[in-house]
Amino acid sequence: MNTLKKTISLSLLIFIVISCKNTEENIGVLRERISINSNWKFMRYDSAQKADDLYYDVRPEVKTVNDSKAADTPATEAEKLEASERALKPFILPTGNAFVKNKSKQHKRPEGNPGKDFPFVQHNFDDSYWETVTVPHDWAINGPFQEGDNAAVTGGMGRLPSNGVAWYRKKIEISETDKNKAIYLDIDGIMSYAIVWLNGNLVGGWPYGYNSWRLDLTPYINFNGDNQLAIRVDNPNHSARWYPGAGIYRNIWLTKTNKVHVAHWGTKVSTRNVSKESATIDFLVKIDNNSDTNAEVEVITKIYFSDEKVAEFSNQSNISNENSSEINSSVDIENPKLWGPPPTQTPNLYKAVTTIKIDGIKVDIYETTFGIRSLEFNPNQGILVNGELIKLKGVNEHHDLGAIGAAFNVRAAERKLEILKEMGCNAIRMAHNPPAPELLDLCDKMGFLVIDEVFDSWERKKTPHDFHLIFSDWYEADARAMVRRDKNHPSVIIWSYGNEVGEQYTDEDGAEIGRRLVEIIKNEDPTRLTTSAMNWAKSDMPFPTVMDVISFNYQGEGIRQDPIFDKVTDRIKTKPQYEPYHKKFPNKVIMSSETASAASSRGIYLFPVTDKISAPMLHGNGKDDSISQVSAYELYAVDFGSTADKVFASLDKYPYSAGEFVWTGFDYLGEPTPYYNCRSSYNGILDLAGFPKDRYYLYQARWRPDLPMVHILPHWNWENRVGKVTPVHIMTSGDEAELFLNGKSLGRKKKGKFEYRLRWDDVIYESGELKAIAYKNGKFWAEKIVKTTGKPTKLEVIVDRTQINADGKDLAYITVKVIDEEGNFVANATNEIEFQVEGAGVLLATDNGNPCDMTEFNSNKREAFSGMALGIIRSIKDNKGTIEVTISSNGLNNSTIEIESN
Ligand code: GAL
Repeated sequence: MNTLKKTISLSLLIFIVISCKNTEENIGVLRERISINSNWKFMRYDSAQKADDLYYDVRPEVKTVNDSKAADTPATEAEKLEASERALKPFILPTGNAFVKNKSKQHKRPEGNPGKDFPFVQHNFDDSYWETVTVPHDWAINGPFQEGDNAAVTGGMGRLPSNGVAWYRKKIEISETDKNKAIYLDIDGIMSYAIVWLNGNLVGGWPYGYNSWRLDLTPYINFNGDNQLAIRVDNPNHSARWYPGAGIYRNIWLTKTNKVHVAHWGTKVSTRNVSKESATIDFLVKIDNNSDTNAEVEVITKIYFSDEKVAEFSNQSNISNENSSEINSSVDIENPKLWGPPPTQTPNLYKAVTTIKIDGIKVDIYETTFGIRSLEFNPNQGILVNGELIKLKGVNEHHDLGAIGAAFNVRAAERKLEILKEMGCNAIRMAHNPPAPELLDLCDKMGFLVIDEVFDSWERKKTPHDFHLIFSDWYEADARAMVRRDKNHPSVIIWSYGNEVGEQYTDEDGAEIGRRLVEIIKNEDPTRLTTSAMNWAKSDMPFPTVMDVISFNYQGEGIRQDPIFDKVTDRIKTKPQYEPYHKKFPNKVIMSSETASAASSRGIYLFPVTDKISAPMLHGNGKDDSISQVSAYELYAVDFGSTADKVFASLDKYPYSAGEFVWTGFDYLGEPTPYYNCRSSYNGILDLAGFPKDRYYLYQARWRPDLPMVHILPHWNWENRVGKVTPVHIMTSGDEAELFLNGKSLGRKKKGKFEYRLRWDDVIYESGELKAIAYKNGKFWAEKIVKTTGKPTKLEVIVDRTQINADGKDLAYITVKVIDEEGNFVANATNEIEFQVEGAGVLLATDNGNPCDMTEFNSNKREAFSGMALGIIRSIKDNKGTIEVTISSNGLNNSTIEIESN
């Protein structure tokens, strides 16, 4: 053993002495993953101010912006750009090298250290007057909203100040004892064009805001104390069709390992021959030897279910200095506990613990969570998980978390998934970019099936500053980074390499780019299938030939087929595409990666009501331009979309479809079609606050047929409609219902073929009580009453959890409903609600689900929208105790609730 190896082993020995008790403890010492989320200093250049010159590359000037162009407008060719000589791009590109397979295409860092003299990267720069922030941090979410026609950031990107250049600085302490370690900065995501300096040295960066990435800090570390990190973020305007968020909006970590360690995202688990009786696990581990000497390693992996060890295997390998080695093993296990989606299956998870030893001494321990499941793609049925046909009852989700913005928060994401699960949803499409890693952990645990998607644009542009600007330099690194990070999640069932990209239209050229992306993805993960969503789908075009699974956006049920579009010639118009595609690609599964794009404002019912099951929104017929709201009768959709009812019919007519992903589960920030003067979307089944719109009950009725439920719309407070036709619709998981108005039956109706709601379209309004009794197979199934209410008098307050963790991250969601004297929900109330928080928590945000409410999200006052408002309370780190929240409104009785923070 030469001297260096000895040094490594000896210094390790010291740690091992303190940490041999059990596996968990060893990890802490052999490999540390330290959260460095707290105490960042933050400064954003004023929008009028010119930022520094440390930019990634020049961007085309944006002269005209058509913010509200229809989402299905084809992408256009990119503008030609002259690169700038002063740009830092050549120094950033090498960060992607680990994800560029062909060594000759990897980037060589030029000589020099740009930015080294810039004050913000200096150790002694006085940042005391900068704001102190904790990440995940979204600098734009608290606005103010930019209103009017001259706003810099317009409706498409949510009217929030996400644009511009900002800096984050933080000191990290590294001691002499880490001298022989490898030290990495692990970034889950920075929005966007992040460039990192450590102690005045430019280390690297990553432009795409949605991927996770790593920097090796080791060469720049001062092992004697303070190290100054400085991160420049440059988030362009006109870069997205939705709200991108801004800044270090996901977690950030410092990882310390020994020089010989499991590589970044260095294990790969896949399972085959899966049955209830047995399964084969293929396990690959990649080990990096960053030392300057050979390492003779022993690699032992133990597999656990709960705490029980179910398998163990080991290998030896010799890894030369500054090199890596991949070790493959396979093991059979008996009676595996399979991972699968509830309610019929259980999302069981296994843990592999990999230990690396040199000379019998542990140098690294690495954990991999995984699931054992089989996937079968049957073109005539859909997707079978562990042999059971599971139709996709999915939704699309953008990455924002409503009123708290893009700053990732586990509880906020978990709440969304809980609400979706309650509705019966079993699948999520990550539109249109890789999510925070913790969201996939949640999907694994809760048993959601996931499409992990990487790009919304390739070479052709949708918005002037979107990914097309960097596609050619970064597509390989970004596609590989997604797969390498996410490959062990059992929830991920399909990789999507694009959404509605402009290359759908460019025949062989477009298909060729698709082929390249598929090759990259398959090279990283040959076990999963690929897709790319099409909103312009012709079965004879080359584009779909390269994907494994056919993904339709709106093409399954057809686009603009209503006679109202007869005269339209310059937009996509397609007949339903399931049949032509099923014929052309009999061996490929077809699914709808986007359906619906229905629109509505919760609780806003507009008259007259269309007698169709799906209609485009027109002023006076489905929407009202004077209030910028869309009718909640749930019969209206964007021009290229369809309502839930129409989509259900299409899925039932073409039962070989694998299922659907509705656009969208929740409303999201930005893309407020059809009202670009507003700030958030109308497409959600739930509003931005997470309150269900009427549509929720249509989905629940279909997706949870065994849950007895019935829902009535609209509300019954129509002083001005006495004697007027006021349609009443019923959504139920039963098959029949009887409607009563003030005790008088308006008839019992049964759902016909391809009918998903029951409608009484000629009800004449009179105040009083509506009652629905639903039946299933002729027997009583569920009942619901809706009453004309009295005046608002009280507030009903419902908190989702009364106990939260005092970790400074955990949240309690408070739903406030305006009620009358008798406790009936006043569905049209607009009272202003005020939240006062005392004790061990803070008010993080308020909302009401109104896409046009321009009150800042951190305001403690919020007008009720259709009778409801939301307050989000956050715990304070290490401050245990009671959080007292008083909710008040002028003229109404106050309510106080207590939440315990432990
Ligand atoms: C689709 C697009 C989505 C969203 C949606 C809005 O065409 O893929 O990102 O824009 O339309 O209706």
